[in-house]
Amino acid sequence: MPVTNDSPLPRAAGAGQLSGRHIVLGLSGGIACYKSAELLRELVRAGATVQVVMSEAAEQFITPVTMQALSNRNVYTSQWDAREPNAMAHINLTRDADAVLIAPASADLIAKLVQGRADDLLSLLCLARPVERCPLLLAPAMNREMWAHPATQRNLTQVVADGATLLGPNAGDQACGEVGDGRMLEPLELLADTIAFFQPKALAGKRVLITAGPTYEPIDPVRGITNRSSGKMGFAIARAAREAGAEVTLIAGPVALDTPRGVARSNVTTAAEMYQLTMAEAPRHDIFIATAAVADWRPAKPAEHKLKKDGSGQVPGFEMVENPDILAAVAKLPADGPQRRPYCVGFAAESRDLLRHAQEKLQRKQVPLIVGNLGPETFGRDDNSLLLIDADGGQHELPRADKLTLARQLVADIAGRLARAGETAPQAKT
Ligand code: C5P
Repeated sequence: MPVTNDSPLPRAAGAGQLSGRHIVLGLSGGIACYKSAELLRELVRAGATVQVVMSEAAEQFITPVTMQALSNRNVYTSQWDAREPNAMAHINLTRDADAVLIAPASADLIAKLVQGRADDLLSLLCLARPVERCPLLLAPAMNREMWAHPATQRNLTQVVADGATLLGPNAGDQACGEVGDGRMLEPLELLADTIAFFQPKALAGKRVLITAGPTYEPIDPVRGITNRSSGKMGFAIARAAREAGAEVTLIAGPVALDTPRGVARSNVTTAAEMYQLTMAEAPRHDIFIATAAVADWRPAKPAEHKLKKDGSGQVPGFEMVENPDILAAVAKLPADGPQRRPYCVGFAAESRDLLRHAQEKLQRKQVPLIVGNLGPETFGRDDNSLLLIDADGGQHELPRADKLTLARQLVADIAGRLARAGETAPQAKT
């Protein structure tokens, strides 16, 4: 069973991801305000400039001094703030903002937004913001009974219909001692969702299947054959596809990487396991991206017990058999019907003659797109460069960049190809 990662992205994954963004961070009243200081810190670490606005109730839980120190900006708490030359803080604060993020968003604040009420600075600036270019993100936080109340649920439906985006909430332990829905997302989860929010939703409604990492083929119970693939490129593509709005299934060989947020991951060890799971999953996906460095061969009969040196100098010999070619097998699925194939993208990790080898691979595997990269220049690294070669003879280079940047470019490229093909690529069954 794949396990979907609902946990935060690691802090390092946010580095620089909000550079150039200006965010109004609003706090309404709730005990989750204590997490907002950490959230502010993470937004700033990710490169954003952050303007904090607090409601009167929020000031009961955390002081503006804390938020001022962490944001390095004056905090606004009142629509009557005399520091604004035109006395219009409620207008000025959102005009250069890329988003208003309210965390925590209390039941009362959401109710006010639904009614268009504007009796304090936070609700007033939400009403006065230019909705076309300043989106509103809400991280609800409240007791589970308040969350479940029909009035709150009605308000949530309406606030979303009015254009707001909800981030969370989680279920779990609550400050009141009860357990249930209404916990505000953790700061790193909110950071991940904010970063994802700004990515174009080029794959909205699509299902993407990705294989990643190496495989491990046992020789005996303690030894095996594997390779130097770190899985980083495949995991970056999984994150990018998820950020682009896709439902993502990741089938990973043995790697020590965190699952990208919102991605459903299954772990496998051998090529045979990866083959079985991929073939079962492929027909319900729209796109298959094979980034895994699958072992070409495996020992035919792994020894039951550890092979021992016997002092004679004799080297053990073992027979090898070829592994199934997963990508080629998926590409051979029929174009239509219940077992139909997704749009297939292969990777080619070469040590030389990248173009020629990638073209050969395109032919051999009968896939519409191969992404070439030079193995020694990518294995284990955080950056890479890619050469896209398609079945129509097209070539397109994505110059050296960090793997997440390349993954987002690749995802955009694939989405563009599907769109240009007029959605002629087979649709996944539901
Ligand atoms: O066959 P080769 O390793 O040269 O091609 C690489 C591409 O094929 C990659 O996309 C890889 O994930 C995929 N592949 C596969 N199953 C194999 C070997 C490679 O899916 N057994």
